[in-house]
Amino acid sequence: MKSSPFRYFGKKQIILTVIIFAAIFFGPVFSYAEKLTIDRFISPETCGDCHSTIYSQWQNSMHHLSHNDPLYVAVSRYMLSGLTDSEEIAESESCVKCHTPVGNITGYPEKTSDDRTKVPEIATKGIQCDYCHSATGADKIFNNGLILSPGHGQDDPGTKRGPFKDASSDYHESAFSAFHTEAKICGTCHNVSHVSFNTKLETTYDEWEKGPYNNTTDEKQKITCQGCHMYQRPGIPATASTPRPLNKGKAADDGPLRDHIFTHYFIGANTVVPTNFKSTEKRDMAIERLTNSANLALDTLKIKEGKLVIIVTNSGAGHYLPTGLTDVRQMWLEIVIKDEKKNIIYSTGKLDKDGYITKGAIIYNTVFGDGKGKPVLNISKAREILKDKRIPPKESVREEIVFQKKNIKQLTISVKLLYRSAPQELIDLVFGKGKDILPVITMEQIKTTIKISNVRLGFCMYL
Ligand code: HEC
Ligand code: HEC
Ligand code: HEC
Ligand code: HEC
Ligand code: HEC
Repeated sequence: MKSSPFRYFGKKQIILTVIIFAAIFFGPVFSYAEKLTIDRFISPETCGDCHSTIYSQWQNSMHHLSHNDPLYVAVSRYMLSGLTDSEEIAESESCVKCHTPVGNITGYPEKTSDDRTKVPEIATKGIQCDYCHSATGADKIFNNGLILSPGHGQDDPGTKRGPFKDASSDYHESAFSAFHTEAKICGTCHNVSHVSFNTKLETTYDEWEKGPYNNTTDEKQKITCQGCHMYQRPGIPATASTPRPLNKGKAADDGPLRDHIFTHYFIGANTVVPTNFKSTEKRDMAIERLTNSANLALDTLKIKEGKLVIIVTNSGAGHYLPTGLTDVRQMWLEIVIKDEKKNIIYSTGKLDKDGYITKGAIIYNTVFGDGKGKPVLNISKAREILKDKRIPPKESVREEIVFQKKNIKQLTISVKLLYRSAPQELIDLVFGKGKDILPVITMEQIKTTIKISNVRLGFCMYL
C-alpha cells in the first residue's frame, strides 16, 4: 500500500506545519541577518570631543581594555588550545560577548577563535561609550543580555540614554533612562554563567542583589554599583567604609554645571593592566580601593592556649570580597609570629622563591571542579564549584590558628591581608615562567607585640 507521510493531515495543516518549521529553523537566520552593522557605532573619540573629562577617565580603564587585556587574551588562547569536548568549546567561544561587545553584536568577532587582526578598529576599544549609552534595557541579568538601539553613525547619532531628565545637545538626542541608574545595567555582564554547564563563574551582581546594600528599607543605606564605582576619583576611593561625596562638574565641556557627574574610571582591584598601558593613576586608584575594602582584628583571648583568632571583615565592598573572577583572584592572610628572640614560631601565607603561595595558606577564593571532584584551572571545563571561601558584604570571618606554646616571654604578631590579580602559577603558565611577576597589594595589616607578663596572671605558667 502506497502511503504519503502526510496522509493524516489536510492541506491547511501541512501549510501551517511548513510555516512553523520554517519559523523554527530559519528564525535564527533571519535574526542573524538583522545583526547591527558596525557603522552604527560612533567611536569613543568622537564622544570625547565634547565629553573630554569622562573620556579621559574611561581611557585605559578595564572597560576600554577589555578586548586587549593581555591576561584575557592569553587565558582565552590557553583555553582554546587542546579542547575536545564540544560543550567546553561552546563556553570558550563565548568570551567576546562581553570582552568585545561592539564586535560581537555586529558580527565580528562572532567567536573568540576568530582572527583577532580582522576585528574592526572600533570594536577593539572594548566596552565603550556608545555601547552602554545605546542600551535600552536587558532581557537577562547574566551573560550580557543588553538590548541596544544605537543610531546610524556620525551623521545620525540617535538617542544617548543617561541619568538626566533635562540634558540637551545639538549633536544627539538625549533621554532619561532609569535603567542606567540601576545596578542591573552592570549586572548583565557582571554575572557570568557557563553556557553549557550553567556553572556560576562570576556572581558579582547576585552577591550585591542579595546583600545589605540592596536589601534595606533605609534608602540612605542603599548603594548601587554606580554608587561606589562611579563616585571614585583620585583621592576619593568611594567604598562603603569611606565617604562618597558628590562630584560637582560638567557632563559635557559646554554643558551646565551639575551637582553630580558619575565618574567613568571603573576601578576594581586590577593594578596590573592599567600599568601595562601606562596608567599609573588608575593603578593608584585600584590600590586606594583595595586598601579601603577590609578590616583586620585580633582576638587574643586564648593566646595562652597557643591560639590566635584573626577576624577579617568585608567593610568596603558591595559584594563578596573578593568578587568577579575569584577562581583566579587571590586574597590571603600572611601571618608571622615571633618570640622575644625573633625566632619564628608560626608562619603562613609567605611566597616561595617562584612567587607561589606556600601550601596551607588561608586563601579567599573559589575553586572549580571537572564534575568528578578534580580542580580545574580552565573555566571552560568548570562543571562544579568545589570551594567558595569569600566574605559577604558587611560580614566577618574568624580564622583560628594554633601555634607552639613554649616558654615564651613575648610574642610579636604580624598579620597582613594580601591581594593579587592572579596566581603566579597561572601567569607563568600563560606567559612563560618568570616573564611577568605580579605585584602583591597589602590591603590591611596589623603588627603588635604582646608581653606575656602584661597579660593575665598565670599566663606564663600556662604557656
Ligand atoms: C558575561 C560577561 C563575560 C563573559 C561571557 C566573559 N567574561 Fe571575562 N570578565 C568579565 C568580567 C565582568 C570580568 C571582570 C571581573 C573581575 O574583575 O574580577 C572579566 C574578567 C576576565 C579576566 C581577568 C582579566 C584580568 O586582567 O584580570 C579574564 C582572564 C577573563 N575575563 C577571561 C574570559 C574568558 C577566557 C572568557 C570566555 C571563556 C570570558 N572571560 C568570558 C565578563 C565576562
Ligand atoms: C559600562 C557602561 C558605560 C560606559 C562604557 C560609559 N558609560 Fe557613561 N554612564 C554609564 C552609566 C551607568 C551612567 C549613569 C550612572 C547613574 O546614573 O547611576 C553614565 C553617565 C554618563 C553621562 C551623564 C553624566 C554623568 O557622568 O553622570 C555621560 C555624559 C556619559 N555617561 C558619557 C559617557 C562617555 C562619553 C563615555 C565614553 C568615554 C561613557 N559614558 C562610557 C555607563 C557607561
Ligand atoms: C557635539 C558635542 C557632543 C558629542 C560629540 C557627544 N555629546 Fe553627549 N552630550 C552633549 C551635551 C552638550 C550634553 C548635555 C550635557 C548636560 O546637559 O549636562 C550631552 C549629554 C549626553 C548624555 C546624557 C544624557 C542624559 O539624558 O542623561 C549622554 C549619556 C551622552 N551625552 C553620551 C554621548 C555619547 C555616548 C557620545 C558619543 C557617541 C556623545 N555623547 C557625543 C554633547 C555631545
Ligand atoms: C558589556 C559588558 C559590561 C557592562 C555592561 C559592564 N561591565 Fe564592568 N567589566 C566588563 C568586563 C568584560 C570587564 C573586565 C575587563 C578585563 O578585565 O579584561 C569589566 C571590568 C570592570 C571593572 C574592573 C574590575 C577590575 O578587576 O579592576 C569594574 C570596577 C567594573 N567593570 C564595573 C562595572 C560597573 C559599575 C558597571 C555598570 C555601570 C559595569 N561594569 C558594566 C564588562 C561589563
Ligand atoms: C559599597 C561599595 C561597592 C558597591 C555597592 C559595589 N562595589 Fe564593586 N568593589 C568595591 C570595592 C571596595 C572593591 C575592591 C575590593 C574587591 O576586589 O572586592 C570592588 C571591586 C569590584 C570589582 C573587582 C573585583 C576583583 O577583585 O577583580 C568588580 C568587577 C566590581 N567591584 C564590580 C561591581 C559591580 C558590578 C557592582 C554592582 C553589582 C559593585 N561592584 C558594587 C566596592 C563596591
